[in-house]
Amino acid sequence: MPSLKNNKPPESGENGNDPLTDFILETALVPSTQEDKVLEGKGMANEALADIPSELAILPLRNVVVYPLTALPLTVGRPRSIRLIDDAVLGKRMIGLVAAKDPEQDDPGPDEVYTVGTAALVHRLRKAPDGTVVLLVQGLERIKIREFTQAEPYLKAEVEVTPDFVEDTVEVEALMRNIVELFRRLVALVPHIPDELIMLALNVDDPRQLAYAIATYMRMDLDDAQGILEIDEVTEKLRKLTIILNRELEVLELGKKIQAEAQTEMTKVQREYFLREQLKAIKKELGEEDEQTLEVEELRQKIEEAGMPEEAEKEARRELDRLSKLPTAAAEYSVIRTYLDWLVSLPWSKSTEDNLDIARARRVLDEDHYDLDDIKERILEYLAVRKLRLERKKEEEEEEPADYIRSEREGVILCFIGPPGTGKTSLGRSIARALGRKFVRQSLGGVRDEAEIRGHRRTYIGALPGRIIQALRRVESRNPIFMLDEIDKVGQDWRGDPSSALLEVLDPEQNRDFRDHYLDVPFDLSQVMFITTGNVLDTIPSALRDRMEILRLSGYTEEEKIKIAQQYLIPRQVRENSLLPEEIEFSKEAIRKVVRDYTREAGVRNLERELGSVCRKVATEVAEVSESADQQISERTLITEEKVAEFLGKPRYFFEAAERTEIPGVATALAWTPTGGDILFIEATKMPGKKGFTLTGQLGDVMKESAQAALSYVRSKAQELGIDEDFFEESDIHIHVPAGAMPKDGPSAGVTMATALASLLLDRPVRADVGMTGEITLRGQVLPVGGIKEKVLAAHRVGLKTVILPQRNEPDLDDVPEDVRKEMQFILADKVDQVFEAALAEQ
Ligand SMILES: Nc1ncnc2c1ncn2[C@@H]1O[C@H](COP(=O)(O)OP(=O)(O)OP(=O)(O)O)[C@@H](O)[C@H]1O
Ligand SMILES: [Mg+2]
Repeated sequence: MPSLKNNKPPESGENGNDPLTDFILETALVPSTQEDKVLEGKGMANEALADIPSELAILPLRNVVVYPLTALPLTVGRPRSIRLIDDAVLGKRMIGLVAAKDPEQDDPGPDEVYTVGTAALVHRLRKAPDGTVVLLVQGLERIKIREFTQAEPYLKAEVEVTPDFVEDTVEVEALMRNIVELFRRLVALVPHIPDELIMLALNVDDPRQLAYAIATYMRMDLDDAQGILEIDEVTEKLRKLTIILNRELEVLELGKKIQAEAQTEMTKVQREYFLREQLKAIKKELGEEDEQTLEVEELRQKIEEAGMPEEAEKEARRELDRLSKLPTAAAEYSVIRTYLDWLVSLPWSKSTEDNLDIARARRVLDEDHYDLDDIKERILEYLAVRKLRLERKKEEEEEEPADYIRSEREGVILCFIGPPGTGKTSLGRSIARALGRKFVRQSLGGVRDEAEIRGHRRTYIGALPGRIIQALRRVESRNPIFMLDEIDKVGQDWRGDPSSALLEVLDPEQNRDFRDHYLDVPFDLSQVMFITTGNVLDTIPSALRDRMEILRLSGYTEEEKIKIAQQYLIPRQVRENSLLPEEIEFSKEAIRKVVRDYTREAGVRNLERELGSVCRKVATEVAEVSESADQQISERTLITEEKVAEFLGKPRYFFEAAERTEIPGVATALAWTPTGGDILFIEATKMPGKKGFTLTGQLGDVMKESAQAALSYVRSKAQELGIDEDFFEESDIHIHVPAGAMPKDGPSAGVTMATALASLLLDRPVRADVGMTGEITLRGQVLPVGGIKEKVLAAHRVGLKTVILPQRNEPDLDDVPEDVRKEMQFILADKVDQVFEAALAEQ
């Protein structure tokens, strides 16, 4: 950005020296040069003025104007110009310098140069190796070309000296000061201008000299430069210069401003970056960091708070470390995050305080369930033991433990076995309430895969912990009552044996560090109180059964059901259906009718449903009445047997034994089923044939065999019984056990089948109110069977009055509730004959 006129030598551009520097150096040299005397100051110029001849050799300059009273280095390269200089140096050294009008013109002729120029003295300085000559010219005075007198070998012209008009006015003084000031500013904007130049300009007090000096060093168009020379009055020259200087300054200042703005733009970007960094720091301080940092921080916090055991915490920290280094978009990121979420949300150290107030617990258990005394007692024992242990812990600690092998056992594992709807699950809830623990329930029905208990390894896509850990997360306590329902329905197949995983969960010796595959760190289950439930015991793997304390719930008698209904089910249904207790009342007979005619079950689930249905009907009536009467006062609805029939429709069950056993050949068997005992009818029929024997009704092998045994016994006793001996030769016999779609098995129908056969062959019907059970031998002995309580209850439920049992089952009658025992007659038999006697009606 040169602001000074590029004093390009007129004849060539090869001069590599900075002309200005050159000038200054040369100027300094000039006075001391012996051969070339340089005129200095006014005086010298004036001296020379007189010598300016009227004819001068004219050197056209390219793109430069040389002013009087100034010195300038020039480089001359063209042969004709060199000749001119050579000639001049030999003579008076005086030449005329005029600018070519067109700087591009290579060899301007007389018409192609300005007519106003400057007479100058020439000092030849040196010849460069390339043939060009560097010279210093010193302007003397303005000249005007009158006429060209020679064109070759160089231009010559007749000239007239035309000095400038100088006025010594205040205006000139003011213009000068102004120009000096402007120049000072200009120089300040152009750092390349040497200080010497400024000194030079400032020390000039001749207005003409100042004008020419500044014009020499200022950047301006050739036209302007020539214009300054041509103006006659110095005042005008100064004015014009002022304008040019101002314009130049403006340009420079604008340039500087643009530059400064560009700089600001730069610093703005930097500033922004800086501010952003600060913002980050502030946000961090405020806890508003970017998502990942936030998440990692949050997890770190949670890990700290989770109270994990050492191993788990170590693992968690390791995973967190990995997480913080992964990009959030990585698939691995969410896997680790989910894992950590699981870890931190488990109740590692969260537990509830046990309420060990035994009296309160007893009250709670009684509040929730009718009867079930054995179980309630067992639970209270558990509480009592726990309470004592806590109380005596201190003393024990001082003593040496005598038993090293066995670690302290927290968990008893209770297993409730019984028919559906007998209150197993709700008992679990009640225990939780009594103890003040949380309750969580997990069904194991249909679980076939070990991984469902113990989880999948984390390496699997979508892996999750197993059901145990999931339930614990849900319940948010490490010592809940944990109910594992339907433990009898745990399956087993190629995916692995869930019961082996369950073993680990339930075994108090092992579950202290239960290792879920997903978590892969141990979780202490020893504080959990597990309760398992199931309908039957047989299907529970024996290893599991061994570890549990089995408590049986065998189903309720009619009386018990009525009590349960009155005390628990009806109040609950009344509440749930938004009725007020005073709006509805069930008569005892009505409840009995619901139990008898609308349900046939060991538990009370259907009973509750039917009672609920009655309540809803009443609720509908109450709502309708209050709508029409526009008031809430409604009468109490008394539910009678008739009302029950009206609300619930036709009875679903009725006493069918009477009509089924009307004809000979049908006997009533008592059967044990997972749902709590039932009755079965065994039908036998005969037809002409040859000793054929058919058995139908989906009977298992054991049952078929006992049918064979029954038949054989009856045949072997045919004579004694009074059966025609040829009968078997000419007949086929068919035994069918209805409800043919239901598989049946077991030996306990033996006596019943024998009885059905005897009834058929003797043509004596079986008494309608008799039910029987017992295994039969070929010798006619009656062997004991299982499930007596359930069978008797079932018989009672369907309305049978007499039950025939094996003699050796007598002790089992103690299990039968008192009221049932009182209502029924029991015949204990150890010979089949006794059974026939009691069961067969007269002909
Ligand atoms: N002795 C009882 N006293 C009061 N209510 C009872 C009693 N027994 C059962 N119930 C009620 O009967 C309903 C069914 O009980 P629950 O669901 O506990 O049966 P369950 O034994 O778990 O059956 P399942 O084997 O089908 O799971 C519950 O509402 C429960 O409160
Ligand atoms: Mg249940």
